[in-house]
Amino acid sequence: MICRGSHPQLSRSHPFPPLERVNRDPVVDRRLAQLLPVDRWPTAQEAAESRWFSPLREGNLSLSHRTWIPAMVPWRATEEGFVTPAVLDWYGRFARGRPGALVVEATGVREIKSGPLLRAGDDRFIPGLKQLVQRVKSESGGHTRLFIQLIDFLSIKRRPVRETFLERHLAITPALRQKLGPQWSGRDERSIREHLKGLDEGGLAEVLPERELESYRYGLRERVTDTHMPHIAELPRVLPALFAQASRRCLEAGFDGIELHCAHAYTLASFLSPSNQRDDGYGGSREARVRLPLEVYEATRQQLGSSAVIGARFLTDEIFEGGGRVDDASYYAVQFARAGMDFLSLSRGGKFEDAKQPKVGRAAYPYTGPSGHECMPTPRIGPPGPFGRNVADVGRVRAAVRAEGFSIPVVACGGISSYWQAEEVLAREEADIVASARQSLADPDWFEKIRLGRGTEVRRCFFTNYCEGLDQSHESVTCQRWDRLKGLGDDDSVARAGDGRRLTAPGWGS
Ligand SMILES: Cc1cc2nc3c(=O)[nH]c(=O)nc-3n(C[C@H](O)[C@H](O)[C@H](O)COP(=O)(O)O)c2cc1C
Ligand code: SF4
Repeated sequence: MICRGSHPQLSRSHPFPPLERVNRDPVVDRRLAQLLPVDRWPTAQEAAESRWFSPLREGNLSLSHRTWIPAMVPWRATEEGFVTPAVLDWYGRFARGRPGALVVEATGVREIKSGPLLRAGDDRFIPGLKQLVQRVKSESGGHTRLFIQLIDFLSIKRRPVRETFLERHLAITPALRQKLGPQWSGRDERSIREHLKGLDEGGLAEVLPERELESYRYGLRERVTDTHMPHIAELPRVLPALFAQASRRCLEAGFDGIELHCAHAYTLASFLSPSNQRDDGYGGSREARVRLPLEVYEATRQQLGSSAVIGARFLTDEIFEGGGRVDDASYYAVQFARAGMDFLSLSRGGKFEDAKQPKVGRAAYPYTGPSGHECMPTPRIGPPGPFGRNVADVGRVRAAVRAEGFSIPVVACGGISSYWQAEEVLAREEADIVASARQSLADPDWFEKIRLGRGTEVRRCFFTNYCEGLDQSHESVTCQRWDRLKGLGDDDSVARAGDGRRLTAPGWGS
């Protein structure tokens, strides 16, 4: 575990600012006790001389600080994917804390309904995105670089009701007839469905082919390997142009750059995964698996020109059995660097393959199983704890890229909630930029507080994932610590909309 003083350059003595404010709230004190202790915060002078608050200039990427807020979906767009006043307030609030970079949530590249997530699949989205850019630029005084994460995802259905599935959704295929036995080979569909309805769960598990059983238990989920479906077979043909056009719209709106979402449970990440065994030249070997993300990048680069900032977010480790590991990530990183990307941002886990079974009527969520816990770790995770557990792998990926002679900046993320952690990651040269998602959500002013030597005022993230619970149910994401200031939410149960939750972080003095 990283703590202050374990690196020689960080153990110099400095005048100590006062210790963290003593809390009068026992719930807050209990939660704080589970965090990485901070015995002191840096002085303003230390922060000014630090690595984290130093500028970065490499290729097209230029940041005034190496602080970074990665993408976080807040569920605040309209059902049609347009920017709303709540979206402007959300990003404006982050911008007031002046991070070096802020990445806007996963934004869809297609013309498909995706609930209150932002979209960039048509020119009609440009005016709203422009407003978002203007708000961030003005709230941050032009200090924060604003990037947008672009995503494509495949369809996932809710877990079906048993009767509905057996009566309507289940296809009566030759494979199913074969599993049922020869006596069912010539029987009509109706009597097969009636027979299946009479089976218990064990009986169904015996006769349903593997994929149908999964759809019954978890809800139907498309995979990039479903090449019998024309819209999935054609992904390599259509995605490069979709990403390139969406990127063009975002740059027209004024964004400083694009992050291609190749992480977690979504289409480009699924192409990178060893579970992708497509036989059309886009699956199987690592070379074939990275081909589509590279073609998406090339099309985007061609559209935006050589000076645009284009990076990718991908995974150090997929965590589930049979998934990609850090050697895969290192290979992809070198390919992305060689192709000319401007940054590599590394996350971890967050996959459907090991997600928990959803309740009937709910969709599976890729952050509920072991890989999900690695993505957004809590104090309940095993050794070495939730704080910076992705960092060593990020360091390995960076070392692989440096060994090939590339100087592309690498962004580390995962459980970073103190200045000393970030400073040490940079001192060890495990990354060039240090990102924090949930800590920045809990206190969007935390970078400024540290920079000004007022770290004792940082409202620290509890890492208990109340925010992620809201994300899971597609409700407006808020923070337990904001509610706590209003006397709401004295446990980890999620307060619902309309019960007085704050929708943006309280001001600095609160
Ligand atoms: C509410 C919420 C929404 C998120 N949405 C995204 C997203 O849109 N894209 C993405 O790549 N990661 C997303 N993440 C993951 C974060 O970017 C980050 O990788 C993760 O929270 C671990 O970092 P942390 O420990 O600093 O929070 C989200 C996380 C949270 C808590
Ligand atoms: S709700 Fe999320 S951001 Fe807020 S304290 Fe909990 S884990 Fe941190």
